[in-house]
Order: sequence, then structure tokens, then C-alpha cells
Amino acid sequence: MEFSKILKTVVYGLPLLLLVVSCTNTKPKYTELLNSETNLIIGQESEGYELTKVQCYACHNPNSPSHDEIIAPPLAAVKMRYGRQYKTEVEFVDAIVEWVMDPQESRSLMRGAVVKFKTMPKQPFKEDEIRKIAMYIYNSQLEEPDWFDAHQEEMHKNGRMGNMNN
Ligand code: HEC
Repeated sequence: MEFSKILKTVVYGLPLLLLVVSCTNTKPKYTELLNSETNLIIGQESEGYELTKVQCYACHNPNSPSHDEIIAPPLAAVKMRYGRQYKTEVEFVDAIVEWVMDPQESRSLMRGAVVKFKTMPKQPFKEDEIRKIAMYIYNSQLEEPDWFDAHQEEMHKNGRMGNMNN
């Protein structure tokens, strides 16, 4: 009797245990910086999203109705450009933080945007908040304006982001 109880526990318990373990394992692998703050950084309920909305979307508004009305490139475009240059999360996040804390035209990766909109103004941001924002940008599917895909195709059909780089 006792033995069958144990057996039952193992038989029913094991799949549950495996499920728990496998769920834990499918957790995102971008652990380099995220560690215990993961839940604060990513997802629409996160601190990362809130900070991005308040501090960046004023200019990098993903809901601008048309390309003619924007005052800065959408962050989805920024992410694409920086993602091409910086392959790891650490490099990506550092580059965004460095830019935002002190935007210098000479270090710009988006020359086309500088010409069109003028260099992003330096503002009194807090570095730890910008770091969270950069981690949010790296790890999240960002909102894109409706015209974004069509524009990407139109602008950049002669090579990815070709004419944005020079
Ligand atoms: C006052 C308006 C404004 C705000 C607020 C703003 N930006 Fe920008 N940003 C711009 C403009 C305009 C550009 C395009 C010109 C340029 O690249 O400098 C830009 C470009 C950028 C670039 C690309 C820089 C390059 O040329 O390589 C990054 C990265 C960036 N912004 C990140 C951010 C982040 C992150 C935030 C929120 C913390 C933010 N920006 C808030 C106006 C703004």
C-alpha cells in the first residue's frame, strides 16, 4: 500500500516537476544584465515600458499617423540600426545609454535622421533609468507605426537601411 502511494506520487508528480523545470528553462536567455530585474524590465506592465513611454515616446512616438508628422525616428527603427551594429545585449545597452546621456552628432549611427530632424537634444535623464529603457528596447517587441513596414521597404530597397547610414 505504502509503496503504491509512493509510486503514485512519482508517476503523477514527475510530469509536473518536469513541466516546472522546462518552464524555468524556457525563460529568456538574455541574462547578461537582466537577472532578478527581468519582470521590471520587459512586458507592457513593466517599469521599462513605463519609462520608455514617458521619457522617449514624446519624440519617438510610435503612434504618429504618418511619416510626415514625426519629429524623430520610431524606436523600432533605432533598435534595428543599433541591433545591426551591436550584437550583444551589453554592447547594445551601453551604446544606447552612452548616446542618450550625451548625444554627439559625431557618434551618430543614424546620420539620415540627424539631417532630417537635427541631433537629439541632450536632456537631464537618469542613467539607471536609461539603462532600464535600453534593456526594454533590446528585449521587447516594440510598437511600430502603421506606416513603418511600407516605409522601410520604400526607403531601404537598395540595401538594408542603405541611405540612412551616410
Ligand atoms: C526631445 C525629443 C527626443 C526625446 C525626448 C528622445 N529623443 Fe531620441 N532622438 C530624437 C531625435 C530628433 C533623433 C534623431 C536625430 C539623431 O539621431 O540624433 C533621435 C535619435 C535617437 C537615437 C539614435 C541616435 C543616432 O543617431 O545614432 C537613439 C538611440 C535615441 N534617440 C534614443 C532615445 C531614447 C532611449 C529616448 C528616451 C530616453 C529618447 N531617444 C528620447 C529626439 C528625442
